[in-house]
Amino acid sequence: MQIGRLVIGLNGLLSTPAVSCIIRKIKAIGGIILTASHNPGGPGGDFGIKFNVANGDSVEVYLQLLRNIFDFSAIKGLLTGPDQLKIHIDAMNGVMGPYVRRILCDELGAPVNSAVNCVPLEDFGGRPPEPNLTYATSLVDAMKGGEFGFGAAFDADGVRPPNQHHNL
Ligand SMILES: *[C@@H]1O[C@H](CO)[C@@H](O)[C@H](O)[C@H]1NC(C)=O
Repeated sequence: MQIGRLVIGLNGLLSTPAVSCIIRKIKAIGGIILTASHNPGGPGGDFGIKFNVANGDSVEVYLQLLRNIFDFSAIKGLLTGPDQLKIHIDAMNGVMGPYVRRILCDELGAPVNSAVNCVPLEDFGGRPPEPNLTYATSLVDAMKGGEFGFGAAFDADGVRPPNQHHNL
């Protein structure tokens, strides 16, 4: 088998759902993802390799896919304006940060301060990017403040449904 073309996300960053989206879009056989999620390997348990096949570009291609699935103008209406739903999204310094910024803030109009820990870091800022009650305590604390109507935290590669907290 020969490789005719390589597609790599900007700065090497792609969430797992975004990889699946690209694989389908460009009709590739599959894609190799270097991610710790779920099956951690390596000395620090923070490295793993996944191979995704064609069942599933970077932020922009994924954004186009989401535009076809969700009613962006309705969500934008919800997140902006005087009666806006205030949200708190914690990307836990994993790969979802650029997606959260681009899609929720730039595209859907959520205020920039709605999204925290959006810079992907090699050590995820020192806490495992596990969006549960042990590690996403800052989300829990933020929600307890009562200011936000919706909060969510993402795991490192954006594959697991985020932990969600509703105050509605
Ligand atoms: C959170 O995830 C970690 C790592 O998987 C686990 O050890 C811990 O028990 C989990 N905490 C909760 C509250 O589920």
